[in-house]
Amino acid sequence: MSRRTLFLVTCGAPLAYRLEDGVRAAQEDGWSPYVIPTDAALPWLEDQDLGDVPVIIGNRKPGEPRRTPAADAVVVVPATFHTLNAWAAGNAYSYPLTTLCAALGSRTPTVAVPYASDELTNHPAWSASLTMLRRAGIQIVDPHDGTSGSVRPIAPGTKVVDAFRWEWVFKQLAATDRS
Ligand SMILES: Cc1cc2nc3c(=O)[nH]c(=O)nc-3n(C[C@H](O)[C@H](O)[C@H](O)COP(=O)(O)O)c2cc1C
Repeated sequence: MSRRTLFLVTCGAPLAYRLEDGVRAAQEDGWSPYVIPTDAALPWLEDQDLGDVPVIIGNRKPGEPRRTPAADAVVVVPATFHTLNAWAAGNAYSYPLTTLCAALGSRTPTVAVPYASDELTNHPAWSASLTMLRRAGIQIVDPHDGTSGSVRPIAPGTKVVDAFRWEWVFKQLAATDRS
């Protein structure tokens, strides 16, 4: 059976350090992944070995062929305060945001792992954005423990990056795909 296409969108926060593991986990789960980083995520990717997985940066030029097949599913790990709010508001001013807005509009199964400190999550836009995305069918996964009921802010000095398990994302995706 041919592998299905997964867009791995990643944003500028420390959990982006685990993208290499995410690429491997996606392949082991039977996906063909494409990495779609925001500009702010790029410094976190510098020393990671993503193998021969395509990394799609920025918009294609007019007339340039599409660089990916259509997505069967999308994950966004980590989803920053900035990207999550922009996505919920329907802003598509970058390639990763266009990808996320299109996934939502086409009801492509999508899992988001929000990642922000309480200084940011106490801003009222955060909870409004999470509510909006959930209502639109986006599956939200807490980076602390993989649960989907609520999202705790990242406390300073916690080991969330190391403790995060990609299997939480793929488990949620499998459940979403079946529904
Ligand atoms: C070292 C560092 C750590 C950061 N950690 C976070 C974070 O945990 N969550 C967050 O929402 N933004 C974090 N930011 C800020 C984002 O990178 C910034 O808001 C950026 O504009 C996000 O862009 P993006 O959503 O396009 O990736 C961090 C920035 C730096 C430099």
